[in-house]
Amino acid sequence: MSEPESIVVLDFGSQYSQLIARRIRECRVFSRVVPCSITAAEVAALQPRGVILSGGPASVYDPGSPQMDPAILDLGLPVLGICYGMQLMIRNLGGEVSPAPSREYGRTQLAIRKPGDLFDGLEPLQTVWMSHGDKVTVEPEGIETLAVTANSEYAACQLHGRKLYAIQFHPEVVHTPNGARILANFCHRICGCKGDWTMESFIDRSVRQIRETVGGERVILGLSGGVDSSVAAALLHKALGRQLICIFVNNGLLRKNEAEGVQQLFGRNFQMDLRYVDATDRFLDKLDGVADPETKRHIIGHEFIEVFADAARSVGDATFLAQGTTYPDVIESQPINGNPAAMIKSHHNVGGLPKDLKFKLIEPLAQLFKDEVREVGRQLGLADEVILRQPFPGPGLAVRHLGPVTRDTLRILRDADAIFTEEVKRSGLYYKLWQTFCVFLPVKSVGVMGDNRTYDYVIALRAIESQDGMTADWAYLPAPLLRTVSSRIVNEVRGVNRVVLDISSKPPATIEWE
Ligand code: XMP
Repeated sequence: MSEPESIVVLDFGSQYSQLIARRIRECRVFSRVVPCSITAAEVAALQPRGVILSGGPASVYDPGSPQMDPAILDLGLPVLGICYGMQLMIRNLGGEVSPAPSREYGRTQLAIRKPGDLFDGLEPLQTVWMSHGDKVTVEPEGIETLAVTANSEYAACQLHGRKLYAIQFHPEVVHTPNGARILANFCHRICGCKGDWTMESFIDRSVRQIRETVGGERVILGLSGGVDSSVAAALLHKALGRQLICIFVNNGLLRKNEAEGVQQLFGRNFQMDLRYVDATDRFLDKLDGVADPETKRHIIGHEFIEVFADAARSVGDATFLAQGTTYPDVIESQPINGNPAAMIKSHHNVGGLPKDLKFKLIEPLAQLFKDEVREVGRQLGLADEVILRQPFPGPGLAVRHLGPVTRDTLRILRDADAIFTEEVKRSGLYYKLWQTFCVFLPVKSVGVMGDNRTYDYVIALRAIESQDGMTADWAYLPAPLLRTVSSRIVNEVRGVNRVVLDISSKPPATIEWE
């Protein structure tokens, strides 16, 4: 099976570069985001069907603004320049761009003069999203206007009669209602892509590639039960069967029934070689008396590496270590503008393992966006309960339990959290919210139950709406749901007599309490 057809997106620093790549994938065409410093030869080596130049925060005439290898425009490939990318194309083809007297931000009316392939199937008047303060002041030779706005004579244009298209607006954002159609026209009509990027074809291709790479060797995977590691496990298992060994560490900070659930699904249902390591005592002993949040996180992170390394050694002769790295991690760890020092983060946490463990790394999901990971999981037979589950932090309940963790207070948190989760699921809100969970507060307050005075702990409810966890709003939960949860927790969880609701957004609060 051959490589999928692809489009390369040159990233000039726009917050929308990843979004462009995702929209292209929605057209069933594989896309790659690459640093804008890529050379024409490097682009050619990727054998794409077309190239997109993203937007960016700079102005093309600023000293030090990101540039491109102009030879990319001569590769004979279709190119679509968006906003900054458009202006860069104009400049590289002999035109000039300068600050515009009136800037264009927000929704704008676009009048299509010449539909051609790019605007095929669109009405002559379109709403588009603009965000720029520059305009074309010197026309390059062979520029042809395809569409205009009140302030832009070249809101969309074609250059040299070749498949070089430049648009001033952003087709990738939802505020350009027919933007998806424009990008689909670029992929299918202009670049000639058939649209063969499906998760079915991805699974077939990666199963073959994994088998080729791994041969007869064995692969270790750290399974957490989260979406990425679960889907990675299912995919590797399809390719390798019992050559895959999954290590699942119970750090004593998991939610109620979580350890049993993972063993049931992967060990018994999927028949994987699953090594379950119950390291509860090791973790809880190390955390004894520790209240400081950062110290807790440090201890848990360090202990995890030790426990995992011990388990990996006991597996014996495995050659590969698999990780559930996804495409956004890969993009974020690419050097920006060719400057490796500008890397946002490094995702290769294999670096944390002791020196005697030398693994080759295998990352079967490294090409996929999160929604694609979920679709692969679905096709491999994982239930919604696994692939749509809310994020859960590595340090687990420790960061939802203020003060030093103890077995008894963890039991309280676990039981309360299970009730909250059950009721949120019953209400149909679980999959609509980013996270819903309980927090244990190590303070006691007075209450009354029956005829008796109580002096017990407080549980806080946290319900969050978010797109990416970077910013978040507290979520509105209906009063009947809150009433049921509160009354069930106080009645069913020994040691709790008060339930409070956290109504803080991020920023200034964080989602987790520690
Ligand atoms: P905060 O609390 O920083 O959390 O607002 C943002 C998102 O990240 C998750 N989170 C973590 N995930 N390891 C993880 O895998 C961690 O140490 C960790 N800390 C926070 C958190 O659940 C939220 O979704």
